[in-house]
Amino acid sequence: MTAAALEPVRLADYRVPAFLIDTVHLDIRLERTQTRIVSTLTLRRNPHSAGQGALKLDGDGLVFVEAWLDGVSLPSDAYSVSPHGFSLHQPPAEPFTLAIETRLDPSANTQLMGLYRSNSAYCTQCEAEGFRRITYFLDRPDVLSVYTTRIEASFQEAPVLLANGNRTEHGSLADGRHYAVWHDPFPKPSYLFAMVAGDLAMVADSFTTRSGREVRLEIYVEHGKEDRCAYAMDALKRSMRWDEQAFGREYDLDIFMIVAVSDFNMGAMENKGLNIFNDKYVLALPQTATDSDFAAVEAIIAHEYFHNWTGNRITCRDWFQLCLKEGLTVFRDQEFSSDQRSRPVKRINDVKLLRSQQFSEDGGPLAHPVRPEIYNEINNFYTATVYEKGAEVVRMLKTLIGDEAFAAGMDLYFQRHDGEAVTIEDFLTCFAEASRRDLGQFMLWYRQSGTPEIRAEGQWDEEAGTYHLSLKQILPPTPGQPNKQPMLFPIRLGLVGEDGDLPVTLDGKPFDGLVALAESERNYVFGNVRQAPVPSLLRGFSAPVKLTVALDEEALLTLLKADSDPFNRWQASQSYALKLLLRLVKDPTTPVDPRFIAAVRGLLAGGAVDPAFTALSLALPSETDIAREIGNDVDPQAVYQARSILRRTLARDLQADLLRTIENMTMAGPYSPQAADAGRRSLRNGALDLICAGGTPQALDAAAAQFDKADNMTDEMAALATLALSATPAGERALHNFRERYDNDPLVIDKWMGVQAMLPLEATLDRVKELMHDPAFSLHNPNRVRALIGTFCSANQTQFNRADGEGYRFVADIILAIDPKNPQLAARLLVAFKTWRSLEQGRRTLAAATLRDIARRPGLSRDVADIAQRSLA
Ligand code: PHE
Ligand code: ZN
Repeated sequence: MTAAALEPVRLADYRVPAFLIDTVHLDIRLERTQTRIVSTLTLRRNPHSAGQGALKLDGDGLVFVEAWLDGVSLPSDAYSVSPHGFSLHQPPAEPFTLAIETRLDPSANTQLMGLYRSNSAYCTQCEAEGFRRITYFLDRPDVLSVYTTRIEASFQEAPVLLANGNRTEHGSLADGRHYAVWHDPFPKPSYLFAMVAGDLAMVADSFTTRSGREVRLEIYVEHGKEDRCAYAMDALKRSMRWDEQAFGREYDLDIFMIVAVSDFNMGAMENKGLNIFNDKYVLALPQTATDSDFAAVEAIIAHEYFHNWTGNRITCRDWFQLCLKEGLTVFRDQEFSSDQRSRPVKRINDVKLLRSQQFSEDGGPLAHPVRPEIYNEINNFYTATVYEKGAEVVRMLKTLIGDEAFAAGMDLYFQRHDGEAVTIEDFLTCFAEASRRDLGQFMLWYRQSGTPEIRAEGQWDEEAGTYHLSLKQILPPTPGQPNKQPMLFPIRLGLVGEDGDLPVTLDGKPFDGLVALAESERNYVFGNVRQAPVPSLLRGFSAPVKLTVALDEEALLTLLKADSDPFNRWQASQSYALKLLLRLVKDPTTPVDPRFIAAVRGLLAGGAVDPAFTALSLALPSETDIAREIGNDVDPQAVYQARSILRRTLARDLQADLLRTIENMTMAGPYSPQAADAGRRSLRNGALDLICAGGTPQALDAAAAQFDKADNMTDEMAALATLALSATPAGERALHNFRERYDNDPLVIDKWMGVQAMLPLEATLDRVKELMHDPAFSLHNPNRVRALIGTFCSANQTQFNRADGEGYRFVADIILAIDPKNPQLAARLLVAFKTWRSLEQGRRTLAAATLRDIARRPGLSRDVADIAQRSLA
């Protein structure tokens, strides 16, 4: 067995760059297959570096033409060059100018890194190491330069020419060509460079900053899609205002541009002044986008905009510090959405995502610290751990030091490090100073991987009126980290009685609801506890941990009713359901606890108070939630069965209640994407989905009626998914009609593909294979691949994990087919195997065999080889 040899990069090996590049002048002459780039760099030795000798620039797949030193063509013995690098043997001691001409073929670029074509436009993607696919450079985030970009193209092919910064010049040239010059005054690393050229439509607006500066806002899309930009534009303006109000951050250039492209590996990219988006996160109309799509557009527009300060003005010293910008910016976009929508609902959704994506990563072979210390391929570290757990760590910091010290720390960070490339240590130092606390132990959140477990035990002493709570931390071993040091946990908690929170004391003082657990184990004695309390622990999910506490059904019912913390009220509903589901996995004939049914009935009855919250409480834990709770030897089919049984029981026993909910939540009047309306739709559609699990003709008729009548994609999609799941002729009919209705709308067809890929049916694999022949499908477009194949392997537990291993083999073949063209996309699909070790033995053996088969293929990309090897280690 041969496995590709990977050369790891280590944080410990970080050295400051030997040279600095003060200015970059890029001259780009666009041609479909023969684009010419002349890059002129002003360089000098870095006074902080001891490095001597040659200047070594990074390259990736470049075709070299010529180089000039201070304007004079370089003789070939003065340098060495290959597609992967350029080395100037004897760089001058004094500052100098180096110009290099390269050629590249944008239309042959299928990796979607560097300069490529999407539909008919030219665009770039440089994070993390794509700039080196455009020109030779010190392609690392700690080299900050001022960029001037001149783009030249055929006017007919590319009337729009964009780059970072402000446009300083433009004009026409001979032969139907034209040019534009853009200048970005803010020094930036190469990964934030961007350029776009093409025949694009534009929607414009403007924003006046709080200091009174007028900023022009432009969104570029394909012609004919202009009417789909209004929500994104509105979200952008709300983001700009919010960052001024919440973080005191103003926008800094005269123009802010967003370009939507349909070929993009990720969600979006925060290039300075010129964000490039996956069109899925820009385009939204009620008829084409669901409520969750609207929420995602809002969140991602905000996320990329917020990067202007957390990422761009202050950037990362090296890629190990990725969470410095990503964790912090996710935290900021979460706070933004919380302020725009419902805070508890947003929190619950974020925690659901964290648990499903990040906990499963942290508990498997791909576990890594929020700040990794070693990587083979940086593209594989844009993970739930870096993003989502990274955001949790920032949130904990705020909880621990308090809102005021947190705000002071942020201010200090912006003031001290503006214009710099910094580390997590630099970031934490600002908060240590602002709060006058030692954050040494807190730093372990960035260094130790794995999901900590907190075990809680409590005892009420009726006579003394005290409650003894013991909290213990358990830090499981993870790859490369067999032993760990005790960590610091902010644990919000309360003691709940029949009528709500008890006014208890701790250390003789009124308890403020927060403890900081720093030891392996600690006991707390609460006073003034006059009735038997139920502990409500980890309120608001104050730390990203697995909480183990023995609460019986009665205790959960108390929390469900009386807890003042909405997160824990929701958690109580989930914990209760999970108890039942685990029993059903073991024995499908276990009767369902009537108290649970009664509790759900109660939830439905009060549903109008907060429909979105009720919808979340009504939704049962997912198959992956159940699997995670089981831990090992998981049989996905048994998990699915258990969940189906509970759903059928609820559908049968709560039929009248569910019908009433559907009726009560029905709205008249035009669609609005606002959270309040979206909440009503989510409860209505949740109830519809549940009632259809009972399979009665009336229920399915209701779904069919909704499918036919719906005036918005949320209701239409919900009905479609429910009907498809019923595996009836009505389902097939709806699928057929939907396909016809949206024939020329790829983003909507993606949803249609996804619904089918998710069906927990034996026949789904064949269906997915067939859908690959649909003219709307393409293995080259990441959105299409993720919608069909990605959904199949990440959202269809029973069919991806088929007992015969065919699901694994199918996905493996696709990964191998995509890898030579788009390694990033291939590697992301492979991540679907991240929990293979927790499966029952038969599937585990098959998954391992498939992974091994992938790992030993010759010619694998570094991306795929890295995931395959780590998954097997
Ligand atoms: N930096 C982008 C973001 O999270 C993500 C991204 C990474 C996009 C790499 C493209 C390539 O906002
Ligand atoms: Zn980001």
